[in-house]
Amino acid sequence: MDDQVLESAVRRRVVVTGATGKLGRAVVAHLRDAGVDVLAVDRISGRDPRDVDGEFLLVDLTDYGQVVEALTGGADEHAGRVDAVVHLAAVPAPGLMPNAATFANNSAATYNVFAAARAAGIRRVVWASSETVLGLPFETPPPYAPLDEEYAPRPESTYSLNKALEEEMARHFCRWDPELVMVGLRFSNVMDVEDYAKFPSFDADPQLRRWNLWGYIDARDAAQAVERALVHQQPGADVFIIANADTVMSRSSASLMAEVYPGVEVRKELGEHETLLSIDKARRVLGYEPRHSWRDHVDATA
Ligand SMILES: NC(=O)c1ccc[n+]([C@@H]2O[C@H](COP(=O)([O-])OP(=O)(O)OC[C@H]3O[C@@H](n4cnc5c(N)ncnc54)[C@H](O)[C@@H]3O)[C@@H](O)[C@H]2O)c1
Repeated sequence: MDDQVLESAVRRRVVVTGATGKLGRAVVAHLRDAGVDVLAVDRISGRDPRDVDGEFLLVDLTDYGQVVEALTGGADEHAGRVDAVVHLAAVPAPGLMPNAATFANNSAATYNVFAAARAAGIRRVVWASSETVLGLPFETPPPYAPLDEEYAPRPESTYSLNKALEEEMARHFCRWDPELVMVGLRFSNVMDVEDYAKFPSFDADPQLRRWNLWGYIDARDAAQAVERALVHQQPGADVFIIANADTVMSRSSASLMAEVYPGVEVRKELGEHETLLSIDKARRVLGYEPRHSWRDHVDATA
């Protein structure tokens, strides 16, 4: 990545939705550390919104008017032209709310963000898609491994169906406006450092984490992927799997595939713990390179 491009891109004003959430907190911290002018947005603050560090606005994204105000600098004390949106807000998994409620919230929030960004003339949208569109929980075996972005979404839940529809929606927004850059990041299961203590317990049963092919994403690396996506230059909609370079397991990736999915074609010689959620495209196109591993925090051999 050209450092000058990165430098000019981070001197922008960026709205981050879902800012109070697990991923949002890491992304806001990372972007602010990089010098980005961030307006953090969520429907909950966790505390009195006036006490939240940095600029924060309470917004219910299912209300289009509120989204327009947030993205056009219309809300008092939050003026300023917005250059990009990072849309992370969602009910973040299947089974947390009834399906129709998950769909109603997530589809309305995303439509409103995409549409308000377009109306505000914002040319750059980065949003959280999900590894689930790859076919999780793989009760139907994956088509091959490592998984990549080369096959059509296979949502198996309402949550994932909505993520697949968001990817389709982004393609049409970009067809309507050929200057738009829309980057969907198909995050794996998001982890904070505190989560790593439980990783060694996954080893006893390879079925435990089979549902996402033993993948994960460190929240700090996810934030790096967002930063990289914010300087992606290619107009149009594109999607990228964002995972860490290794699995959650101490056993080799090849042995996991041989035991759990013996009929699935493994298309390359795998490194010992190599991720089965390929990040080759994100590396090649975005310059994403994970810097963290759970193995740096927990003794994987204990
Ligand atoms: N956590 C994971 O493992 C994972 C994996 C893949 C993708 N994702 C996606 O990443 C994004 C962030 O996930 P997370 O783990 O940080 O979830 P989270 O629940 O911790 O954070 C989501 C935030 O979105 C906010 N939100 C939801 N609906 C809203 C609305 N209508 N208006 C305003 N704010 C709203 C919530 O208040 C919450 O703070 C989501 O889009 C999720 O689907 C998460």
